[in-house]
Amino acid sequence: MFRENRKGKRPDGRSKILPPGPRGRLLTGNLLDYTRDHLGFLTQCAREHGDVVRLRFVNVRTYLLSHPDHIEYVLVGNNRNFIKSKGVRHSLGFLGDGLLTSEGSFWRRQRRLAQPAFHRERISVYGEVMVECAGRMISTWKGGETRRVHEDMARLTLDVVAKTLFGTLLTTEFEEVSAALTTITQRFTGRGGVLFHIPERIPTPVNLRFRRAIRQLEGIIYKIIEERRAEGEAGEDTGDLLSMLLKVRDEETGEGMSDKQLRDEVMTIFLAGHETTANALTWTWHLLARYPEVESRLLEELNKVLAGRPPAVEDLPRLRYADMVVKESMRLYPPAWAFGREALADCEIGGYHVPAGTQLVVSQWVTHRDPRYYEAPGEFRPERWAEGSVEKVPKYAYFPFGGGPRLCIGQSFAKMEAILLLATIAQQFRLRSASGERIAPQPSITLRTKNGMRMVLERR
Ligand code: HEM
Repeated sequence: MFRENRKGKRPDGRSKILPPGPRGRLLTGNLLDYTRDHLGFLTQCAREHGDVVRLRFVNVRTYLLSHPDHIEYVLVGNNRNFIKSKGVRHSLGFLGDGLLTSEGSFWRRQRRLAQPAFHRERISVYGEVMVECAGRMISTWKGGETRRVHEDMARLTLDVVAKTLFGTLLTTEFEEVSAALTTITQRFTGRGGVLFHIPERIPTPVNLRFRRAIRQLEGIIYKIIEERRAEGEAGEDTGDLLSMLLKVRDEETGEGMSDKQLRDEVMTIFLAGHETTANALTWTWHLLARYPEVESRLLEELNKVLAGRPPAVEDLPRLRYADMVVKESMRLYPPAWAFGREALADCEIGGYHVPAGTQLVVSQWVTHRDPRYYEAPGEFRPERWAEGSVEKVPKYAYFPFGGGPRLCIGQSFAKMEAILLLATIAQQFRLRSASGERIAPQPSITLRTKNGMRMVLERR
């Protein structure tokens, strides 16, 4: 339970003032208001109560932080005082000790081992695969048809991750992996979201389906690892991520990754690396349909730089406007819309006391739409990222990939992928919202669309 605000300082000079926050109910605190409308509730809290807002979810003390300086303090400046939040630890337990969920020296070692596989030079070889995947998808599209664009983008980005991660080995299991991942993410798509759902050990139909999907995915991953190991040192270096992860050795100990570690990393990358980019693209199609003048400018650039040929990695520096479009789309609809940390020791943020054990939530949805940092924050204006304007945005007022040591390892991969897929598809098709389609964001692990975004395809 919270103590009432008491003004003043403690003997160690730290503040003992607790931040303001909305009234909660006796037992559940702010849980019901949050579950009713995650995005609306958090936004309202920040706008009404300020940069640090005190919330309570049943007995879990939580602060919402929306100021760029406070976000930087948690992710960068004082990052060692924070671990992943309880919500992440419980919900994403099935990822084991993968990069997203592990901590401390174990995480540091894994990050060091995995990092080379994500270096810009290394991933640039995947550009071709990305464009090929997009080309294959649009060869099945027909002008005039209506499609659920989120589904198409999710299959496309899974295809990219599967091909870049596993090479060609996954072809036969693609449908199985796709279905399993859909079942896994569905568990977090509901009122409770990532924060609250029925514990996995309780055999509800949703949980049983979830466990079955995990087992299925795990089986495929272990089979592929076994096949790759059997190929041994003599095995061909297929240049994909898995072959790199299998080869890496810790500089200090000389050890490679165990099968369980590989399983955790692969499962993590599957989950973190496809829905996020799929959502970024889905929202971009929606925004381009709503803002035809932006779409025209994008097309102009594509025609000038590519003149009708498929894009390549070498074109990226000249696809400046496409980059701004994706950047602005992730401001308005950030695929990772919020994430959390837990304070290990007492500290002070924005003049408020943060007791050890407090859960801290930072929300890209809330901060990316703050009118203090963005003029007309609800408008889709890629131009705000042009040289001369971008400098006005404070560093952590935009953080779609997080920040500090836990910054998304797939950031360069995702940016490159989003631009190449966008450029490939936009040259051939214009996407228009289907009539009567109600567009609403649905915050799950990532920020999805409620109805799958039905759109009509027009061939250019
Ligand atoms: C638009 C696409 C993407 C977005 C918006 C995104 C966002 C994020 C964010 C916000 C985090 C930090 C979470 C935290 O600090 O708690 C993160 C971490 C991570 N992401 Fe991404 N991500 C994207 C694409 C990818 C891709 C393509 C991959 C892999 C191929 C990937 C793999 C990871 C991993 C492994 C981590 C954990 C890193 C660590 O803690 O060391 N992500 N991502």
